[in-house]
Parts: sequence; structure tokens; C-alpha cells
Amino acid sequence: MKDMDHSKMSKEAMKNMDHSKMSKDDIKNMGHDNIVPLNSSKGKNEITFPEILKPASVNGNNVSYTITAQQGKTEFYPGHKSNTFGYNGNLLGPVVKLKNGQHVTINLVNHLNEDTTFHFHGLEIPGDVDGGPEQVLKPGEEKTISFKVNQEAATLWFHPHPSPHTAEQVYKGLAGLIYIEDNNNNAKKLPHEYGVNDFPLIIQDKSFDSNKQLDYKKVKNDDGTTGHTVLVNGKVDPKFTFKKELVRLRILDASNARVYKLKFDNGMKFEHIASDGGYLNKPDKVSEIQTAPSERNEILVDFSKVKGNKVNLINEDGKVILPIHLINSNKGTKKSDDKISNLSLNNIHVSPKEKEMKITKKVVLAGMGKDVTINGKKFDKNRIDFNQKVNKTEIWEIENKKDAMGGMEHTFHIHGTQFKVISVDGKTPLEEMQGYKDTISLEPGQKVKIAVKFNHKGIYMYHCHTLEHEDNGMMGQIKVS
Ligand code: C2O
Ligand code: CU
Repeated sequence: MKDMDHSKMSKEAMKNMDHSKMSKDDIKNMGHDNIVPLNSSKGKNEITFPEILKPASVNGNNVSYTITAQQGKTEFYPGHKSNTFGYNGNLLGPVVKLKNGQHVTINLVNHLNEDTTFHFHGLEIPGDVDGGPEQVLKPGEEKTISFKVNQEAATLWFHPHPSPHTAEQVYKGLAGLIYIEDNNNNAKKLPHEYGVNDFPLIIQDKSFDSNKQLDYKKVKNDDGTTGHTVLVNGKVDPKFTFKKELVRLRILDASNARVYKLKFDNGMKFEHIASDGGYLNKPDKVSEIQTAPSERNEILVDFSKVKGNKVNLINEDGKVILPIHLINSNKGTKKSDDKISNLSLNNIHVSPKEKEMKITKKVVLAGMGKDVTINGKKFDKNRIDFNQKVNKTEIWEIENKKDAMGGMEHTFHIHGTQFKVISVDGKTPLEEMQGYKDTISLEPGQKVKIAVKFNHKGIYMYHCHTLEHEDNGMMGQIKVS
């Protein structure tokens, strides 16, 4: 049993297998044979950072931007021009910096040869500007949206959401960052100079064909497309060189499906300071961070403590994601993480009332491949699955249903809200899960309880953020009124 190669088995053969004779590990690995092995980065190419998008206009508290989805060419490998998609450029997108309280107007432009939408992942804005699958812009179309920012400092992102082509468009390169800033005084003590001591790391895995093209259709996997090559900020074989000091890294897993468990190869600890929707209550000292597709995690790392001048950011299996080269900084570190570990950054609590409230919505994630469902159904744009009142908290239970095949990990995301995790399998969540979240990843058999409140009205999606699962219909709609 141990030596079986599941990847070579037909679906039928797998169905007919006698699961009672399988070990726990065999069952666990079955859902994972779609994950292609990731190669280590050797670190030839210095990473760069997306530009901060310049406003088209600023007028007091009003700011406007233009975001264009376009086709381009990217030289991932010297001498090879790969066809890619990007926002306002050839690949990925700029950082859109917004302030809490600001009135924002965005002119959305589709210069692709196909339909797309502009979804603002993690932004708490009305459903009609959220960019779900129904808000399609046809090739050549433009549309202006506006909203008011009404949420705390956080690292969010934007990406396309046309059904069922989200996976392909993200894979080809459409993903940009949104930073929200506010007046959190303690947070001002954290490193916050973009590109100096505060860096975004957009992690993705892709596979290139022999012509160094991203041929999505050839590598597409219905259980989540994974790639052999890791990219950081769009660089293949990335490396990162900076000063030996206290640094903030904002990590976005913008992969279609891969979950990473990130750590440093010298085993050093670091402070986890923020998750999807903003700061944790206080920095949480950890030595590893797990990130599922679409999740954001901000960490503070005191590189002045590294012995020598090299350390690697690695995945759980030891594969190098990002080799880091350190330059001695003669000024020494001004800030040490000792002061920072006691900073109070937020005040998020599950209230006693929320703890007692009954579950009013249940979401069951089930299946694999083309058979994925959410509450036994597939996405139907003409069907509203849930209703909820605006500004009213409800308790949702999310279950990843285990089946005879063991099932697989699913990553649950809700648009237009930042929720609080009340419990994971009946237990108080780990500290790293106690901040605001818009995405939560569940192992087969896991159940979580979350407190969900929408601050705006409209129709919002909830779905698995393994993008091929989303495209295969693992998505529902909630109407907030
Ligand atoms: Cu980041 Cu509906 O997605
Ligand atoms: Cu899924």
C-alpha cells in the first residue's frame, strides 16, 4: 500500500480501492497527489517591489485612481519573452495605498481580449463595487466605481473574478496589493518605509513550458494548479538583498492552490504582527507561519541577529523560497524587536455574547476536482444561498467534510467582511488566528465557528480560494440587506 503511486491510478481504481486497509497517511496523501514538487530557488535574480500607484487626482479626502488590466510580456528567463497579464503593467500590479476614511474613485479599464472583473479582496465595501463574477467588464470596457474606506490598517489585494476563469487570469499574472493605513499610534513604531524596511513578498508557484510560456490549459489541475517554480514578486529564482536590521515582510500567498509553511533555515523566531484584516492584538512570537491561497501575514524579523550574511526563507519541506543576503549596516539596528514584542497593536475580542450566540449559517465544503460543492450545490449566479442583515453579527459554522477518500484542504473566503474566528474544532483558536480574517483554511474533517458581520449591503460571494475549486463551482452567494 505504501508504495502505491496514486498519480498513476485512474479515478475508478481509486474508487474501488479498499480504504479500510489504508493507513492514515495513505488516506491523507491521496488528496495531495495533485501537488507538484516545488523546486528550490537558487537565487539568481534580485527581487523588485511593485510601484506605489500614483493617484490620478487628489482633492482633500478624495482620491482617484486608474487600474487597467492588460496583456504584456515578461522576461522571467533571459532571452525569453513570456506572455503575461498585469495591472498597469506587464505582470502583477501596483500597490494601491488607501487611508481609512478616504473617498476613493477607481476607473477600471479592461484592455484584455477577454472578460474580466476587478475584485477587491478583503475590502469592506458595498456588494455592487466588490467586483464579483457578475460585474464583468468586456474587452475595451471601462467603468468607474467609488466607495469610502471604512476599515483599519491592513494589507489587502485585488484580482480578477470572472466565473469560471479566475484561476487562469490570476495564474497569468493578475494580482495587485492594497495597503490601508490609519492612525494606529503604536503601529507607527513598526518599520513602515516601503522598500526600505517594509517589503511585500508576493509568493506564487507556476510551471513554464519549454518555450518559457505559462500555458495554463496544459498544466491546469481541477484540484488546484501548482507549479514547479516559485516566484516572489514575479521573479523566478528570486533572491533578496537588504540591510541587516529589523524588517517587516508583508507576505501574500497569491498562488492558485499551494499552501506554504514558511520559516527560516536557521530556525530563528520572528514576530507575527498582522493577518488578513489587520494587526493582531500584540506581536506573536513564532518560528513558522502557514499561509493558504489569498491569505496575508505580516511578520517582523530582526535580521541583525543572524550569524553570517545569509539566511533562507524556506517551505516546510526545506525547499528554498527566497535566499536572503544581508549587508552589514554600520549604523547598527536602531530598533530591536524586544521593545516591539510588547506593543499593543489592536483590541479584537470575541465577546461573551458572541461566544453564546447560536450558529445561524452552516457551510459544508466537500468533494474534489470537478465534484466540489458547497452545501451540496454548485455556484449558480441566479440563486441567492444566504441572506443576512447589514451590521448584524451572525455565527457561521464552516465544515470541511471528510469522505471515504479522506478529502482535501479547502480555503474558505467571504467577500466584503473581516470575520473573527471563535473556535477551531471547538477549541480557542491559536493566537495567529485571533486577528481579523477574510480567509481560513480547513483540513479535512475540521470545523470552525466564525462571527461574521457585513458593514455594507449587496450581494457577496463566499467560496474556496483554491482557484480551480472556485471555478468548478465551489462558491455561493449571500445577499446582505
Ligand atoms: Cu480573493 Cu472571491 O476572492
Ligand atoms: Cu477547495
